[in-house]
Amino acid sequence: MGSKPRILVARAIFPDIVERLRTHFEVEDNPGDGIWTPDALAARLADKDGAFTTGSERIDAAVLAAAPRLRIVANMAVGYNNFEVDAMTAAGVQGTNTPDVLTETTADFGFALLMATARRMAESERYLRAGLWTQWSYDMFAGGDIHGSTLGIIGMGRIGQGIARRGAHGFGMKVIYHNRSRLGAKLEAECKARHVGKEELLRTADHVVLVLPYTPAAHHTIGAAELALMKPTATLVNIARGGIVDDAALAVALRERRIAAAGLDVFEGEPRVHPDLLTVPNMVLTPHIASASVPTRRAMASLAADNLIAFFDGRGPLTPVNRPVAHPRGY
Ligand code: GLV
Repeated sequence: MGSKPRILVARAIFPDIVERLRTHFEVEDNPGDGIWTPDALAARLADKDGAFTTGSERIDAAVLAAAPRLRIVANMAVGYNNFEVDAMTAAGVQGTNTPDVLTETTADFGFALLMATARRMAESERYLRAGLWTQWSYDMFAGGDIHGSTLGIIGMGRIGQGIARRGAHGFGMKVIYHNRSRLGAKLEAECKARHVGKEELLRTADHVVLVLPYTPAAHHTIGAAELALMKPTATLVNIARGGIVDDAALAVALRERRIAAAGLDVFEGEPRVHPDLLTVPNMVLTPHIASASVPTRRAMASLAADNLIAFFDGRGPLTPVNRPVAHPRGY
């Protein structure tokens, strides 16, 4: 190729990684970090060969139709529900994500959110900061135990397995899991995890953690009916995607103490948060930061950049999420 491919970097990322991209590509970046409307994104992609995106840019049929040169979109996230994968495949556009590099960091966070939720850390901190702590009492912010309890994981991919290992080996938890396909015997033994049906998991677990990818079939995996199956002492943690939990139904269940507490890092329609969740006391709420350690965010950005570089220098994408048909321009 004579001139350098043109790349759009849709959000602000580490400046040195943008500089690395500039050695390979003509780069239009977004240092101001405003989130573009779909039309503004489509207009910027009109003359681009590739794009670096995050979960906030939706790549759908309309955007693809406006981007005839586009050959690859590298997402800086392991989840890629912002991609309309079938439309990308049909348009000859390669998609990539950032698996593996965030597994342990995200599992750390899932476990931290589980502990903060069960031990009521956010609720008790708010109480202390509000100047309400005047004396010790025997049941003040008494929560559930982690050690020795039953951990139920829905979605047993790499991150789910990381959480299972932490629970089983670090905290002596009994681990049960539910997943589309059962793990092999070796992995089950490593995670000390037993495969069960969803209903058994919800009825039995003391702490339920959601780590499954978002697909239309996973929409409202946890709604009012599922919450009703859980123990009144149980907790629920969602580090997967907004929409996997029915947030309005969860707010009702928490307010009525049908379950003990919940921790959410992801929300339906984020960054908006269902207003009822904001007034429920027995919750820990975080702004989609499960992978947000500095080294891991660097590794994610670097892998997304490496995907673009490897694609255009002919090595092929490192972590593809689809196998596109031939590009209509014959690239
Ligand atoms: C974060 O949510 C990711 O998918 O990487």
